[in-house]
Amino acid sequence: MILVTGGAGFIGANFVLDWIDTNNEGVINLDKLTYAGNLENLASLKDNKLHHFVQGDIGDSALVERLLSEHQPRAIVNFAAESHVDRSIHSPEDFIQTNIVGTFRLLEAARTYWSGLTGTKKTEFRFLHVSTDEVYGSLTKNEPAFTELHRYEPNSPYSASKAASDHLVRSYHHTYGLPVLTTNCSNNYGPYHFPEKLIPLMIVNALAGKLLPVYGDGQQIRDWLYVKDHCSAIRRVLEAGRLGEVYNIGGWNEKANLDIVNTVCALLDELRPRPDKKHYKEQITYVADRPGHDRRYAIDARKLERELGWKPAETFDTGIRKTVQWYLDNQGWLNNVLSGSYKQWVEKNYAERN
Ligand code: NAD
Ligand code: DAU
Repeated sequence: MILVTGGAGFIGANFVLDWIDTNNEGVINLDKLTYAGNLENLASLKDNKLHHFVQGDIGDSALVERLLSEHQPRAIVNFAAESHVDRSIHSPEDFIQTNIVGTFRLLEAARTYWSGLTGTKKTEFRFLHVSTDEVYGSLTKNEPAFTELHRYEPNSPYSASKAASDHLVRSYHHTYGLPVLTTNCSNNYGPYHFPEKLIPLMIVNALAGKLLPVYGDGQQIRDWLYVKDHCSAIRRVLEAGRLGEVYNIGGWNEKANLDIVNTVCALLDELRPRPDKKHYKEQITYVADRPGHDRRYAIDARKLERELGWKPAETFDTGIRKTVQWYLDNQGWLNNVLSGSYKQWVEKNYAERN
């Protein structure tokens, strides 16, 4: 089996669901269940013997050591993180604790466990660290997309904490020989995306008749990848990635934020028209920009395509349609998410922007 951390969050849950579906191999899912962790994401695995959920912190060394020694996983896939840039601007401390200290403790536990393995169990063990394109900083309009060789230039407490974790992972390979792999992916979207992030926030607000808050001029560019394509890329890197290597993951889908919001609005006009027959885009409003807002991200995924033959299955058009439809079909999931501490976050983040 494998140990997945952060497997109750957006990407982690999609990964666990797809893993059990495609690999028929067990998963120990270690997740702290912060505001972003949600066991409802894993409801379809309720009686599935391949899924073993443990609530806990990657920074809890005793717990992680016990799990490793009891279950003897052949790999660790580390998704656990604080992931929202705006929250890192309001309260960076949690990002330092989980993304840096937590990853360090997880690496230490992995090193101790791996050192005690022998034979093929040792040579085949892998530690895959899931990271982000944000560590590379911001691109101007005409600069080429980020390759794996791009300098690290993180600009937010979130991206700085992820950059620090990437460096720790690298150092554990270089110094101790721990068999690590790192992936740096662009913006994901799809089912179970927490509605603090751009796409699900716009769907939720649009349906509730609320304003659609676009930061600054809305011309910041992100490179979008359907979450299940991110998961297939991670499976492929885990299977065949070269030890110590970094793989950028992306789907060549650069879009300005305003175009994303307009696309979501147009899909909702088609799939769930407003009762008054007006267009959802009339709800768009411009609000104060994110401090230090990165202007453009773009991923060059050619290394992954060339070396490991990976390709995304979805285009942006097919992926965004599936996503909007998923939110329309999963109102129960959404209502539960929206009823919690979510409201306080929305008040805190948007009140000061208006
Ligand atoms: P998320 O915020 O939706 O989920 C994070 C999960 O980690 C939650 O279930 C949370 O409970 C758990 N967690 C947080 N702190 C923990 C701790 N100390 N111990 C154990 N579990 C903990 O995040 P996501 O969007 O699914 O991102 C997952 C990973 O992918 C992160 O490492 C993120 O940096 C990376 N990533 C995200 C994107 C994206 O677009 N969302 C893109 C590239 C990379
Ligand atoms: O690039 C990968 C990263 O993508 C991941 O590492 C992060 O974990 C993930 O959260 C995401 O970061 P972003 O900051 O790009 O995502 P977010 O959805 O928060 O914002 C996307 C863009 O939309 C960004 O330019 C800010 C803008 N935005 C966001 C919100 C929430 C708005 O204009 N209005 C909003 O209300």
